[in-house]
Amino acid sequence: MKHKTVEVKNVLRTQDMFSNLQSRSEITPGIGLIHGASGFGKTTTVTYMFNQLTAMGNLPVYVRCYATDTPSSFLARVMKELGSEPMYPLRKSVDFITNTMNEQQIALFVDEADHIIGQAKTMETIRDLYDATELPVVLIGMEEIARRISHRKQLFNRISEWVEFMPADNEDVSMFACELLEQGIKVGEDLLDFIRVRSGGEVRRILIALEKIERFALTNEKDYIDKELWGDGQLFLNHGRR
Ligand SMILES: Nc1ncnc2c1ncn2[C@@H]1O[C@H](COP(=O)(O)OP(=O)(O)O)[C@@H](O)[C@H]1O
Ligand SMILES: [Mg+2]
Repeated sequence: MKHKTVEVKNVLRTQDMFSNLQSRSEITPGIGLIHGASGFGKTTTVTYMFNQLTAMGNLPVYVRCYATDTPSSFLARVMKELGSEPMYPLRKSVDFITNTMNEQQIALFVDEADHIIGQAKTMETIRDLYDATELPVVLIGMEEIARRISHRKQLFNRISEWVEFMPADNEDVSMFACELLEQGIKVGEDLLDFIRVRSGGEVRRILIALEKIERFALTNEKDYIDKELWGDGQLFLNHGRR
């Protein structure tokens, strides 16, 4: 399997969302939200976009959150990304971060934000970073985050752009197969559809299935695999069913 990010619909929608945040007018707030189930490609998409932004001369910052995070550990991670040691009292770290963000026009991506959504202080700190810079801040999390963030009115009111990661459709699955399989291996539409249904549209599971098909094709020296050729081999670990 090739290692690359495929520009499926969720990726394109995320790029649009971020460019809307960047080009918004002064009256529109600039916090973005990306949410969707685990394995749907959120982190991959944000990392891909991060690299594109960096290549274009932007200086985004990406941090992921952990279950054990506190305002202090969160700020220390952002400081580290900005090349600095944390400063105390924490107000100094906040000032350093907002000054640097303003000077260098840095957008902030906060992945795994589910871990901090229940922590008022950390969420307020993120809001402080946004309010002092008005630069794009993008929160990334699982399905629950959209609902839970709606209870944090101050933050919720600043969200102007959001993307919900949807399950892959047939076109997406076919794009993964075309762009990631080695040596022109082709997969029949019936098998692609089977993969879409049985994966629930989850990218992680789609890629695992495609890798199995690729290995099968290489071992058997085939360049076209459809459902009949694949037979009743197991593609998914799924409660003992195939
Ligand atoms: N657009 C994509 N192109 C290629 N691989 C992808 C893409 N989206 C997701 N993946 C793969 O699927 C797996 C799960 O994606 P990930 O970004 O970790 O999901 P999430 O952050 O939503 O839980 C990753 O290992 C990644 O390799
Ligand atoms: Mg992730």
